[in-house]
Amino acid sequence: MDYLECLRLTHAALEPRTYCEIGCWYGPSLAVSRSPTIAIDPKPHIAFQIEAPTRIYKMTSDEFFEQYDITELFGEPIDFGFVDGMHLVEFALRDFINMERNAHPGGVIAIDDILPADMAYTGRKQGQGAWTGDVYRLLPILAEYRPDLRIDVYDVEIKGFCLVSNLDPDSRVLEEAMAEIEQAIEQGRWKFETLEQLRDALGPKPAEALAGDLAELARRRESAESAAAAE
Ligand SMILES: C[S@@+](CC[C@H](N)C(=O)[O-])C[C@H]1O[C@@H](n2cnc3c(N)ncnc32)[C@H](O)[C@@H]1O
Repeated sequence: MDYLECLRLTHAALEPRTYCEIGCWYGPSLAVSRSPTIAIDPKPHIAFQIEAPTRIYKMTSDEFFEQYDITELFGEPIDFGFVDGMHLVEFALRDFINMERNAHPGGVIAIDDILPADMAYTGRKQGQGAWTGDVYRLLPILAEYRPDLRIDVYDVEIKGFCLVSNLDPDSRVLEEAMAEIEQAIEQGRWKFETLEQLRDALGPKPAEALAGDLAELARRRESAESAAAAE
Protein backbone atom coordinates (compact mmCIF):
# COMPACT_ATOMS: atom_id res chain seq x y z
CA MET A 1 0.00 0.00 0.00
CA ASP A 2 1.31 3.51 -0.73
CA TYR A 3 0.35 6.88 0.78
CA LEU A 4 -2.18 7.59 -2.00
CA GLU A 5 -4.05 4.38 -1.18
CA CYS A 6 -3.99 5.46 2.50
CA LEU A 7 -5.47 8.82 1.50
CA ARG A 8 -8.12 7.09 -0.62
CA LEU A 9 -9.11 4.87 2.32
CA THR A 10 -9.21 7.87 4.66
CA HIS A 11 -11.45 9.93 2.36
CA ALA A 12 -13.74 6.94 1.81
CA ALA A 13 -14.06 6.10 5.52
CA LEU A 14 -14.43 9.64 6.87
CA GLU A 15 -16.35 11.24 4.00
CA PRO A 16 -15.01 14.60 5.19
CA ARG A 17 -17.21 17.66 4.77
CA THR A 18 -14.07 19.72 4.09
CA TYR A 19 -10.51 18.83 3.06
CA CYS A 20 -7.41 21.02 3.32
CA GLU A 21 -4.14 20.01 1.68
CA ILE A 22 -0.85 21.79 2.33
CA GLY A 23 1.51 21.04 -0.56
CA CYS A 24 -0.37 19.81 -3.63
CA TRP A 25 2.47 19.87 -6.22
CA TYR A 26 1.12 18.40 -9.48
CA GLY A 27 -2.02 16.97 -7.88
CA PRO A 28 -1.92 13.19 -7.24
CA SER A 29 -3.15 13.52 -3.66
CA LEU A 30 -5.55 16.38 -4.50
CA ALA A 31 -7.20 14.19 -7.15
CA VAL A 32 -8.25 11.73 -4.42
CA SER A 33 -10.56 14.23 -2.71
CA ARG A 34 -14.32 14.26 -3.35
CA SER A 35 -15.05 16.92 -0.70
CA PRO A 36 -14.96 20.72 -0.86
CA THR A 37 -11.20 21.30 -0.91
CA ILE A 38 -8.71 24.06 -0.24
CA ALA A 39 -5.12 23.42 -1.34
CA ILE A 40 -2.14 25.64 -0.58
CA ASP A 41 1.17 25.58 -2.47
CA PRO A 42 3.52 28.36 -3.61
CA LYS A 43 4.28 26.44 -6.82
CA PRO A 44 1.32 24.30 -7.86
CA HIS A 45 1.30 22.88 -11.36
CA ILE A 46 -1.69 20.59 -11.44
CA ALA A 47 -1.54 17.83 -14.04
CA PHE A 48 -4.29 15.59 -12.65
CA GLN A 49 -8.05 15.68 -13.18
CA ILE A 50 -9.48 17.25 -10.01
CA GLU A 51 -13.01 16.03 -9.22
CA ALA A 52 -13.82 17.92 -6.03
CA PRO A 53 -14.82 21.60 -5.83
CA THR A 54 -11.33 22.94 -5.22
CA ARG A 55 -9.70 26.28 -4.55
CA ILE A 56 -5.91 26.47 -4.83
CA TYR A 57 -4.06 29.27 -3.02
CA LYS A 58 -0.69 29.95 -4.63
CA MET A 59 1.34 30.93 -1.57
CA THR A 60 3.16 29.36 1.36
CA SER A 61 1.04 27.86 4.13
CA ASP A 62 2.36 30.45 6.61
CA GLU A 63 1.21 33.26 4.30
CA PHE A 64 -2.16 31.56 3.79
CA PHE A 65 -2.95 31.15 7.49
CA GLU A 66 -1.80 34.72 8.15
CA GLN A 67 -4.09 36.14 5.46
CA TYR A 68 -7.14 33.88 5.54
CA ASP A 69 -9.59 32.39 7.99
CA ILE A 70 -10.07 28.94 6.46
CA THR A 71 -13.16 28.23 8.58
CA GLU A 72 -14.73 31.32 7.02
CA LEU A 73 -13.68 30.23 3.51
CA PHE A 74 -15.20 26.77 3.95
CA GLY A 75 -18.13 27.97 6.07
CA GLU A 76 -17.10 25.38 8.66
CA PRO A 77 -13.91 23.94 10.19
CA ILE A 78 -11.57 21.42 8.56
CA ASP A 79 -12.72 17.79 8.77
CA PHE A 80 -9.66 16.26 7.14
CA GLY A 81 -6.26 17.90 6.68
CA PHE A 82 -3.11 16.66 4.93
CA VAL A 83 0.26 18.17 5.86
CA ASP A 84 2.64 17.65 2.91
CA GLY A 85 4.27 21.05 2.32
CA MET A 86 7.83 22.06 3.18
CA HIS A 87 9.65 18.98 4.50
CA LEU A 88 11.29 20.58 7.52
CA VAL A 89 10.08 19.87 11.04
CA GLU A 90 9.46 23.49 12.07
CA PHE A 91 7.30 24.08 8.97
CA ALA A 92 5.34 20.85 9.54
CA LEU A 93 4.81 21.87 13.18
CA ARG A 94 3.39 25.28 12.18
CA ASP A 95 1.20 23.56 9.56
CA PHE A 96 -0.11 21.15 12.19
CA ILE A 97 -0.84 23.99 14.64
CA ASN A 98 -2.69 26.02 12.00
CA MET A 99 -4.68 23.02 10.81
CA GLU A 100 -5.66 21.91 14.31
CA ARG A 101 -6.72 25.43 15.32
CA ASN A 102 -9.10 25.42 12.35
CA ALA A 103 -10.31 21.82 12.63
CA HIS A 104 -13.41 20.10 13.98
CA PRO A 105 -12.52 18.37 17.28
CA GLY A 106 -13.57 15.11 15.62
CA GLY A 107 -11.44 15.86 12.56
CA VAL A 108 -8.29 14.08 11.46
CA ILE A 109 -4.93 15.42 10.27
CA ALA A 110 -2.71 13.19 8.13
CA ILE A 111 1.02 13.88 8.04
CA ASP A 112 3.22 12.65 5.22
CA ASP A 113 6.96 11.82 5.31
CA ILE A 114 7.10 10.67 8.94
CA LEU A 115 8.58 7.20 8.40
CA PRO A 116 11.46 7.41 5.90
CA ALA A 117 12.66 4.10 4.45
CA ASP A 118 16.26 5.37 4.54
CA MET A 119 18.03 7.88 6.77
CA ALA A 120 19.50 9.34 3.55
CA TYR A 121 16.03 10.87 2.92
CA THR A 122 16.06 12.84 6.17
CA GLY A 123 18.58 15.62 5.49
CA ARG A 124 17.55 19.24 6.03
CA LYS A 125 18.59 20.06 2.47
CA GLN A 126 16.84 18.46 -0.50
CA GLY A 127 19.22 16.27 -2.50
CA GLN A 128 18.67 13.92 -5.40
CA GLY A 129 15.89 11.33 -5.10
CA ALA A 130 13.39 10.78 -2.27
CA TRP A 131 13.35 13.51 0.38
CA THR A 132 11.27 13.31 3.55
CA GLY A 133 13.39 15.89 5.34
CA ASP A 134 13.22 15.76 9.14
CA VAL A 135 9.40 15.87 9.32
CA TYR A 136 9.52 12.66 11.42
CA ARG A 137 10.74 14.79 14.38
CA LEU A 138 7.27 16.29 14.60
CA LEU A 139 5.89 13.06 16.10
CA PRO A 140 8.10 12.93 19.24
CA ILE A 141 7.39 16.66 19.67
CA LEU A 142 3.62 16.07 19.58
CA ALA A 143 3.95 13.05 21.88
CA GLU A 144 5.92 15.13 24.42
CA TYR A 145 3.89 18.35 24.38
CA ARG A 146 0.46 16.98 23.44
CA PRO A 147 -0.06 13.57 25.03
CA ASP A 148 -3.80 14.24 24.63
CA LEU A 149 -3.54 13.71 20.86
CA ARG A 150 -3.97 10.27 19.35
CA ILE A 151 -1.15 9.50 16.90
CA ASP A 152 -1.28 6.44 14.65
CA VAL A 153 1.70 5.68 12.41
CA TYR A 154 1.46 3.15 9.58
CA ASP A 155 4.24 1.25 7.88
CA VAL A 156 3.69 2.40 4.34
CA GLU A 157 6.31 2.20 1.63
CA ILE A 158 9.02 4.87 1.25
CA LYS A 159 7.72 7.46 3.71
CA GLY A 160 4.99 6.09 6.02
CA PHE A 161 1.58 7.56 6.78
CA CYS A 162 0.28 9.07 9.97
CA LEU A 163 -3.11 10.12 11.32
CA VAL A 164 -3.48 12.51 14.24
CA SER A 165 -6.89 12.63 15.90
CA ASN A 166 -8.51 13.61 19.20
CA LEU A 167 -7.82 17.20 18.11
CA ASP A 168 -8.29 20.16 20.41
CA PRO A 169 -8.73 23.37 18.38
CA ASP A 170 -8.61 25.40 21.61
CA SER A 171 -5.23 24.07 22.72
CA ARG A 172 -2.45 26.67 22.69
CA VAL A 173 0.21 24.41 24.26
CA LEU A 174 2.33 24.13 21.11
CA GLU A 175 2.10 27.82 20.22
CA GLU A 176 3.09 28.83 23.73
CA ALA A 177 6.08 26.45 23.68
CA MET A 178 7.11 27.41 20.12
CA ALA A 179 10.28 29.37 21.00
CA GLU A 180 11.48 26.57 23.29
CA ILE A 181 10.68 23.89 20.67
CA GLU A 182 12.41 25.82 17.87
CA GLN A 183 15.52 26.25 19.99
CA ALA A 184 15.56 22.51 20.83
CA ILE A 185 15.12 21.64 17.12
CA GLU A 186 18.13 23.79 16.32
CA GLN A 187 20.11 22.03 19.06
CA GLY A 188 19.36 18.66 17.43
CA ARG A 189 16.69 17.26 19.78
CA TRP A 190 14.24 14.59 18.55
CA LYS A 191 16.77 13.44 15.93
CA PHE A 192 17.56 9.78 15.38
CA GLU A 193 20.81 8.38 14.04
CA THR A 194 19.46 5.08 12.73
CA LEU A 195 16.26 3.78 11.17
CA GLU A 196 15.98 1.27 14.00
CA GLN A 197 15.91 4.05 16.62
CA LEU A 198 13.42 6.02 14.57
CA ARG A 199 11.10 3.04 14.08
CA ASP A 200 11.36 2.08 17.78
CA ALA A 201 10.33 5.60 18.76
CA LEU A 202 7.47 5.90 16.26
CA GLY A 203 6.14 2.34 16.68
CA PRO A 204 4.51 1.95 13.27
CA LYS A 205 1.56 -0.43 12.82
CA PRO A 206 1.21 -2.56 9.70
CA ALA A 207 -0.56 -0.68 6.90
CA GLU A 208 -3.37 -3.25 7.08
CA ALA A 209 -4.41 -1.76 10.46
CA LEU A 210 -5.46 1.51 8.80
CA ALA A 211 -8.91 0.40 7.60
CA GLY A 212 -10.00 -0.78 11.07
CA ASP A 213 -8.64 2.36 12.75
CA LEU A 214 -10.51 4.56 10.25
CA ALA A 215 -13.77 2.75 10.92
CA GLU A 216 -13.26 3.40 14.64
CA LEU A 217 -12.44 7.09 14.03
CA ALA A 218 -15.58 7.49 11.91
CA ARG A 219 -17.71 5.85 14.65
CA ARG A 220 -16.16 8.05 17.35
CA ARG A 221 -16.82 11.19 15.32
CA GLU A 222 -20.41 10.19 14.72
CA SER A 223 -21.13 9.52 18.38
CA ALA A 224 -19.36 12.75 19.51
CA GLU A 225 -21.44 14.75 17.03
CA SER A 226 -24.70 13.07 18.05
CA ALA A 227 -23.89 13.78 21.71
CA ALA A 228 -23.07 17.44 20.91
CA ALA A 229 -26.31 17.81 18.90
CA ALA A 230 -28.34 16.37 21.79
CA GLU A 231 -26.91 18.92 24.29
C1 LIG B 1 5.99 16.51 -1.86
S1 LIG B 1 5.19 17.82 -2.66
C2 LIG B 1 3.47 17.49 -2.35
C3 LIG B 1 3.00 16.28 -2.97
C4 LIG B 1 1.49 16.09 -3.03
N1 LIG B 1 0.83 16.27 -1.77
C5 LIG B 1 1.23 14.67 -3.52
O1 LIG B 1 1.04 13.78 -2.70
O2 LIG B 1 1.33 14.47 -4.70
C6 LIG B 1 5.52 19.17 -1.61
C7 LIG B 1 4.90 20.45 -2.09
O3 LIG B 1 4.99 21.39 -1.03
C8 LIG B 1 5.13 22.66 -1.60
N2 LIG B 1 5.67 23.59 -0.60
C9 LIG B 1 6.97 23.89 -0.34
N3 LIG B 1 7.04 24.80 0.64
C10 LIG B 1 5.77 25.07 1.02
C11 LIG B 1 5.19 25.93 1.98
N4 LIG B 1 5.96 26.70 2.77
N5 LIG B 1 3.83 25.97 2.09
C12 LIG B 1 3.04 25.18 1.31
N6 LIG B 1 3.56 24.33 0.38
C13 LIG B 1 4.89 24.28 0.24
C14 LIG B 1 6.03 22.46 -2.80
O4 LIG B 1 5.84 23.50 -3.76
C15 LIG B 1 5.57 21.08 -3.30
O5 LIG B 1 4.66 21.22 -4.36
